[in-house]
Amino acid sequence: MARSDLIIKLVKAGVSGNENEVRATAEAIAADEHAKKHSGVADRIRHVLETTWQKQTSDKTQHQGVRIRDGSGGIQRRETYKQLSELYLTKPTRNACHELIEEQHCADILRANGLEPRHRLLLAGPPGNGKTSLAEALATELALPLFVVRYDAVVTSYLGETAQRLRRLFDFIKTEPCVLFFDEFDAIGKERGDLHETGEIKRVVTTLLLQLDDLPTYCVLIGATNHPELLDRATWRRFELRLDIGKPTDSQMTSYFSDQLKQLPGATGYTAKRLLSDVKPKNFSEAENFFLDIRRRIALSRGEITIRSIISDRIRMWQEKIEIPGEFIHHGAKINHPIS
Ligand SMILES: Nc1ncnc2c1ncn2[C@@H]1O[C@H](COP(=O)(O)OP(=O)(O)OP(=O)(O)O)[C@@H](O)[C@H]1O
Ligand SMILES: [Mg+2]
Repeated sequence: MARSDLIIKLVKAGVSGNENEVRATAEAIAADEHAKKHSGVADRIRHVLETTWQKQTSDKTQHQGVRIRDGSGGIQRRETYKQLSELYLTKPTRNACHELIEEQHCADILRANGLEPRHRLLLAGPPGNGKTSLAEALATELALPLFVVRYDAVVTSYLGETAQRLRRLFDFIKTEPCVLFFDEFDAIGKERGDLHETGEIKRVVTTLLLQLDDLPTYCVLIGATNHPELLDRATWRRFELRLDIGKPTDSQMTSYFSDQLKQLPGATGYTAKRLLSDVKPKNFSEAENFFLDIRRRIALSRGEITIRSIISDRIRMWQEKIEIPGEFIHHGAKINHPIS
């Protein structure tokens, strides 16, 4: 349950019609719920905020002209709550992020010395280890809005149209400080067979490079990719910071397991090392899912089953789960893969 002072504040703001206060208070409630590990409630509040806010914004901007009309079609604003301290990162990655944040926060000092802060960052690495989470955490730490590029709204097969949309998107972005997140950054040069066939891809990449060069330093661009080898060398060079968000090391995963075990409401009878060797997650995303499963079971058992037996039961189920391409087999039941 959310804190009562926040609920009262929300009601007051709603009754007095103070839209900004409603939004800020709802965000505070979501953050509070998130901190209490009620991610479901927090996500639902954010979803309502995002969808309602976007609709209202687009309704309003129909009358406001340029700003939204001219570029925001390809981007989505996302609220961020993740913090850098929540993520398990290698020391060099964490240090590099702190440097970027410091340079952005102290841009005035740099400019007074004829220097600019770095603002183009590439995150590369296999799925599920925190590229998107890190982009969100950086936006939170920089206290800037996070704009996520929607490829479906940018890339089209009409000649010249993709490059034009990209230009419009960047024009929009440049109007205020923000973090611009290009997930699957390689997608612009990849997978789009239709773009390749018309020679369009060259035009798109050229536009992208020009836009990257022109981007003001108060806009922080973060690209993420699982396939850095597919990036054009010229594009690669544009990024001043390139961080390898690789597979978690054993010691990172052990710390993750140890912290997660400590957060469970009671004795578990497991050490982090033993549990890790039983579960062997491929990435943080799998590890997170494992512990979410356990927390759900603990909540639903209403104290009638010991945490230890919930965990051992989950380990057995986890080990029985077999994934093969195109389909999942879980406990003997065969489920078609949603994308097959
Ligand atoms: N380094 C990490 N520390 C803590 N949690 C993490 C870390 N990496 C991933 N997670 C958790 O795993 C989930 C998936 O992470 P995320 O979406 O950031 O991965 P990704 O690298 O962007 O994956 P993809 O390449 O599939 O987009 C998130 O909910 C996040 O909380
Ligand atoms: Mg991602």
